[in-house]
Amino acid sequence: MSAEPWIPQLTEDGSFTFFSKEFGEAFHSRYGARQEAFFKFARVTDLVERSRQGYICLLDVCYGLGYNTAAALETIWATNPYCQVEVYGLELDETVPRAAISPPLIESWSPEVQSILQAIALEHHCTTPQLTATLLIGDARQTVQMLATRHFQADAIFFDPFSPRRCPQLWTVEFFAQIARCLKADGKLATYSRSASVRSALLEAGLQIGTIPLENTHLPHEWSQGTVAAFHGRSLPSLSLMEQEHLQTRAAIPYRDPLLSDSAETIRQRHHQEQQYSQRESTSSWRRRWGIR
Ligand SMILES: C[S@@+](CC[C@H](N)C(=O)[O-])C[C@H]1O[C@@H](n2cnc3c(N)ncnc32)[C@H](O)[C@@H]1O
Repeated sequence: MSAEPWIPQLTEDGSFTFFSKEFGEAFHSRYGARQEAFFKFARVTDLVERSRQGYICLLDVCYGLGYNTAAALETIWATNPYCQVEVYGLELDETVPRAAISPPLIESWSPEVQSILQAIALEHHCTTPQLTATLLIGDARQTVQMLATRHFQADAIFFDPFSPRRCPQLWTVEFFAQIARCLKADGKLATYSRSASVRSALLEAGLQIGTIPLENTHLPHEWSQGTVAAFHGRSLPSLSLMEQEHLQTRAAIPYRDPLLSDSAETIRQRHHQEQQYSQRESTSSWRRRWGIR
């Protein structure tokens, strides 16, 4: 359990996030924690359309403050208030969801969702006539195997660890292979990462990938808001030529963790070595060709 004091930081849409000293990173985009949950996760995994089927299973990898689960529940029940939902959240540090249920953080959500987030944070479980939610505390590399063994299958997976450089253990081919075991044949996984190493790890784990296209306003060096993955590529927005070529560069060498138990440092070193011996085009040359600074 973390000894970090979780101090709320305001993001640009008025919702709050935390900063992790251990990982050296904020939990959400500074443009808006709440907005990110709706746009990059709930929308990309087609929750409005899926809610009409009347039953949805969700897997929230790196539950954190619970924003992705909260945005998903609000999206689903705004369309179909009778939709039954089953959610599993995977989280290492139980102090994070607990710190997120005090005001003002929790006030971003409807009263119904607020009481669900409170029960999940305090009891790691919540049952209502419409919902069964369970938070599994531990290293997601292990807890996901428990879900896969029980044949849990999600319509939507929200994949939201800290960045690959900071937390490589959750972006490896082997971890994605376990995650893919928990995805329904027509399910979708969404992540904010557009990194080539992440995209090639998803491909090596047997998934097809698409881009999350940019909105109108974006910085000149940005090319995508993230990645969406599924077993079939037909409903996924295609990668641009630039993104496809990115997958041929050294940046696309994925992280590996053969026994799902190595330290971040060991995984980073293995990755660095594989990149050093690679004959692929360098990422800086790809950047120059496409005018990316
Ligand atoms: C970027 S934050 C997630 C934000 C979250 N989705 C939200 O909406 O608030 C990453 C989370 O991953 C958790 N984490 C770090 N390593 C983990 C691991 N090995 N297994 C499970 N969770 C982990 C952190 O404690 C943190 O809560």
